[in-house]
Formats: sequence, C-alpha cells, structure tokens
Amino acid sequence: MEAGCQLIDTADAYALGLNEELVADALSPYGDGVLIATKAGQAGPGTRWVPLGRPDYLIQQAHVSRLRLKLEVIPLFQLHRVDPTVPLADQAGALKHLLDDGVVEAVGLSRVSVAQLEEFREIVPIASVQNKYSLSDRSDEDLLEHCEREGIAFLPWRPLELSETVAPTVQPIADRLGVTPSQVALAWLLQRSPVMLPIPGTASPTHLAENVAARDLTLDDEALAALS
Ligand SMILES: NC(=O)c1ccc[n+]([C@@H]2O[C@H](COP(=O)([O-])OP(=O)(O)OC[C@H]3O[C@@H](n4cnc5c(N)ncnc54)[C@H](OP(=O)(O)O)[C@@H]3O)[C@@H](O)[C@H]2O)c1
Repeated sequence: MEAGCQLIDTADAYALGLNEELVADALSPYGDGVLIATKAGQAGPGTRWVPLGRPDYLIQQAHVSRLRLKLEVIPLFQLHRVDPTVPLADQAGALKHLLDDGVVEAVGLSRVSVAQLEEFREIVPIASVQNKYSLSDRSDEDLLEHCEREGIAFLPWRPLELSETVAPTVQPIADRLGVTPSQVALAWLLQRSPVMLPIPGTASPTHLAENVAARDLTLDDEALAALS
C-alpha cells in the first residue's frame, strides 16, 4: 500500500481461506482508499478447481470472507466463475441478496461472456469483471469494449503473460525505453482502456516496485503500433 497500490484481490478458496487471513493480518485496520476484493463460487480442495454456485453457499462464503478479512462490508465481492449446473438467475439472486443485505458494497463477475454479464445485470448491478486478458491473450476484446461502453471496471488476470509469439515484439520496445517487458505489458494494458485495472500477482518486492512503476510509463505511438 505504501508503494501506491489501492486494490488487493484475493478469493475465499485461495489456500482454503488462509490467503484472506494473510491479507487481514497484513493490512487491517485498512486505511482510507484501500479496496479489498474477494471472490467465491469456486472451490479448489485438490489440484483442480470446481465451480460451486449454489446460492446458499455463495451467501455463506461472503459471510466467512467478511470475518476472515476483518471487514464489516466487503467492498467488492466477485463470483469466481459461473456454475453451469446452477441457474444463472439463482447465482445472480444470491449476489443481489448480499448487496441488499449490506454484506457487500459492490458485485463483480469473473470468467464471463458479454451475454452472461448482461443476464446478470438484469438482476443485480455489476461493478467489475475479471477475465484473462493481456498482450498475449485478447480473446475477450468484445467483453472489454462492452465494459468500456457500460462503465464497468475490467480486471485482467494473468496480465503479464508474454507468449513466444509476442515476446520478440515486446523485448526490443522494452530495451529502447529502458524498462522491462512486464512493465511494457502493464503500461499497454493501462493505455488500452480507461476501465482497465490490472491485478499482477507477485511475491517479490522487486517485481512489486517494477509493476507499480509501470503506471508512470507512457508507450509512444511507435510502441503502440507494434504492439497492436
Ligand atoms: N478470476 C480468475 O479465474 C483468476 C485466475 C487466475 C488469477 N486470478 C487473479 O489474478 C491475480 C494474480 O494472480 P497470480 O498471482 O496467480 O498470477 P499472475 O499475476 O498471473 O502472475 C504471477 C507471476 O508473475 C510473476 N511476476 C510478477 N511480476 C513480475 C515482474 N515484474 N517480472 C517478472 N515476473 C513477474 C510472479 O513471480 P514473482 O513472485 O517472482 O514476482 C508470478 O510467478 C490474483 O488477484 C488472482 O486472484 C484470477
């Protein structure tokens, strides 16, 4: 937070709740301007993730997250993924219930399509979506443009991904500008859309400083043309 980060994104299922406890141990009482975002709707008890979107489970997990995070109200509560075995309207209804009850302040979705987002929005206001998006993976371009039109925040996960196809274009730009490829990836995202809010993960203070510094990097037209 001292470096200027304002959003921390976690999930109920990360390390079976331990990650949320770690966030609370490190940061609570939370200062002004700190936005804690968490997720529910996916369980990862073993090596694979399974969707779990039953309304009673989603509501229970929000209450558990609130306790673990030491928060009265969860600022942003996201459905980790849509459960195909549960009617979408029931999952949206649970999110609406949490919002109406004041358990959460805002609701987000993760791994959704434009059509699903719009179905949810018929039942509950949606503040953000969290989908995979980066220089290397632009398959959700339609969703990003939709979020931009509708004023919905777009939180790309895996924002630093540089595939073997893209990396050779990025490296010379990074060298020319005297920055790292990760910084180019983040600066490109931030310049790509005003609703973009990248959530790179790191366990390295050096990488954290590097990632935060990417906010101040402006890619010139030559770089943007090559990357687009
Ligand atoms: N909604 C979803 O389904 C979904 C799925 C996956 C992730 N996410 C979210 O995405 C966020 C981040 O996820 P994540 O931590 O799994 O992974 P990530 O951001 O995709 O990548 C983390 C990796 O990037 C490395 N890294 C970070 N900064 C770097 C830098 N400047 N240079 C080189 N390497 C760097 C880290 O290594 P070091 O530790 O060495 O820096 C780590 O190996 C979380 O909020 C998570 O919840 C969401």
